Amino acid sequence: MADNDKKNSALKAASLVESDMVVGLGTGSTANYFIEAIAERKNNEGLKVTTVASSIVSARIAKQYGLEVVAIENLSSIDIYVDGADEVTADMTLLKGRGSDLVREKLLANASQQFYVLVDDSKLVKNIGDNFPIPIEVMPFAWQMVLTDLENSGGVGGLRENASGDGLAVTSHGSLVLDMHFNDKSSDELNSLLNAAPGVVEHGIFADLATTVFIGKNGIVELLKK
Ligand code: 5RP
Repeated sequence: MADNDKKNSALKAASLVESDMVVGLGTGSTANYFIEAIAERKNNEGLKVTTVASSIVSARIAKQYGLEVVAIENLSSIDIYVDGADEVTADMTLLKGRGSDLVREKLLANASQQFYVLVDDSKLVKNIGDNFPIPIEVMPFAWQMVLTDLENSGGVGGLRENASGDGLAVTSHGSLVLDMHFNDKSSDELNSLLNAAPGVVEHGIFADLATTVFIGKNGIVELLKK
């Protein structure tokens, strides 16, 4: 059911895309449904869009579907960025970053006129950090100092391992990732703390960026808007 709900939210968002838009493509299982749906609209209806990808993975998938993908460095703004999330609060703050491209994801979210977030209702939380640690991209040489700094602010965690568990996760920018829990801090406090921490490249709290959240639940899609 959860996968159908993810797909339904992706289909709803894809139905709102118009020809000549520049569309940002997110990363993950839900974003993949959206990429597939856009490709179907291109093939069936002649929808003409230019896309920009938030990761090497989503660029490859989009190209396999025959979508035009332009490099991020060729664009200064985009019309719609569409991506999944790991957690969403009632005020539309997001936690993202189970993938490894937080820099691109936040850049696209910030540069887009509309940022559509696709989730099923299992992603709704009361507080950021309820279900997942906060992903924090750090410069490789800085990780120990950043870890100590964040531990001094009440954080607990460590370096993320790669998928096979035989090494460390490395982002497409060559950063390492700390996954940290903070029990006693609001998302606002965490956002400020991580924005100001030396050695942090980017982090997974996306505040004041989402414009619409598409929530798939039991076969229907509810919209949460700013
Ligand atoms: C990647 C992300 C994903 O959007 C997030 O992890 C959700 O993934 P999925 O759609 O597979 O549940 O933030 O960095």
